[in-house]
Amino acid sequence: MQRIAVLGSTGSIGQNSLEVIKNFPEEFRVIGLSANSNIDILYRQIKSHRPGLVCVKEPQAALKLKSRLDLKNIKLFMGQEGLDEMVQDKHIDKIVLAISGSGALSPLLKAIDSCKDIALANKEALVMAGPIIMDRAAKKKIKIIPVDSEQSAIWQCLNGQDKNKLNNIYLTASGGPLRRSRKRELKNVSVSRVLNHPRWKMGKKISVDSATLMNKGLEVLETMHLFNVPPEKIKIIIHPEAIIHSMVEFVDGVILAQLSDTDMRIPIQYALSYPARLSSRARSIDFYKLKGLNFQKPDFKKFPCFGLAYMAAYEGGTLPTVLNATNEVSVDEFLKGRLNFASIPKIINRVLDKHHKKNNPDLEEILKADDWARKEAHKIIENLN
Ligand SMILES: NC(=O)c1ccc[n+]([C@@H]2O[C@H](COP(=O)([O-])OP(=O)(O)OC[C@H]3O[C@@H](n4cnc5c(N)ncnc54)[C@H](OP(=O)(O)O)[C@@H]3O)[C@@H](O)[C@H]2O)c1
Repeated sequence: MQRIAVLGSTGSIGQNSLEVIKNFPEEFRVIGLSANSNIDILYRQIKSHRPGLVCVKEPQAALKLKSRLDLKNIKLFMGQEGLDEMVQDKHIDKIVLAISGSGALSPLLKAIDSCKDIALANKEALVMAGPIIMDRAAKKKIKIIPVDSEQSAIWQCLNGQDKNKLNNIYLTASGGPLRRSRKRELKNVSVSRVLNHPRWKMGKKISVDSATLMNKGLEVLETMHLFNVPPEKIKIIIHPEAIIHSMVEFVDGVILAQLSDTDMRIPIQYALSYPARLSSRARSIDFYKLKGLNFQKPDFKKFPCFGLAYMAAYEGGTLPTVLNATNEVSVDEFLKGRLNFASIPKIINRVLDKHHKKNNPDLEEILKADDWARKEAHKIIENLN
């Protein structure tokens, strides 16, 4: 029986994780849950899963939840410090890290330091501080098992293979909701259009990233760190059916691919059960009904975030941190209606241009670059309005 804490349990990945866990009462038990502020969903999850550890990041929301709960069998944590403390609890075996954005970095590092295995959905922390995370994980000998469908596919294709014989990784992308839009239409794209992804149901931030294609750019950096592969070996392919979740090519010309339905519960389940495989109720692919599998080159002109992410990947140092921070600010401003869609890559580009890169940054330098980039992005956006 694995005792699991789900961080970001009220979000899309968090809720899917709880569903998977509920299907296997003999294998998994929820012992920790966390949310930022959505205490209504969290309250229902507590009633259903009865965890001993609960954290709410927003102090006001935490106090509200406290007044609704019988705390006899629950230890309630609050704030960033609370989250960092909760992940170190000795009863936790594995942590599903499904917090969105850079807020995942601190609990991730604390979880690694206290030797917890991680099922990692969050990609922003790896983009910000990949070398530090992977280095600490190696020193502590803990496993970081990817939940992201593309990374899970690569992980499965590389399993048991000689990584020195890897030629290329083909990272597939559905192309997002604006794949067929013309470049000039992008300026006036509405928030609701962007949130309407053709293949996946996801949280708002990653939905915007999927529309700008920054999500795929962040995944290039995520892949680099998770599998220790240089950016020149990572190729993006647009694959609208989203049936192939990624592929790896070896030096002998053999390509291995992982295929499955577009259902995040599949990679979540594998990250929880790894190395075992458990039977699931997921739909299998009906190849007789498939009309075809299509592949296209990514359009770097229409979606400049590809180029910005590759640039940050090649340059390294604090540039990926700045890319991520500026993207988070720009996406948030777009969701609040204060920035148009086409300006997102422009803001990122301007802040990257202004940044004086620091090579091999330590954690303090990363956090400083993150803070600087957020302030710069806000300044530029305020001057636009
Ligand atoms: N959704 C997908 O299909 C998918 C696929 C692959 C990878 N991912 C990655 O998985 C992560 C989660 O994505 P999602 O779509 O599940 O996001 P989401 O639906 O927006 O959920 C985010 C979760 O994190 C919590 N949270 C947000 N900011 C926080 C902070 N600063 N501190 C503590 N908790 C915080 C939220 O709490 P509240 O509900 O209280 O706000 C919520 O529980 C992202 O990094 C994303 O890139 C997602």
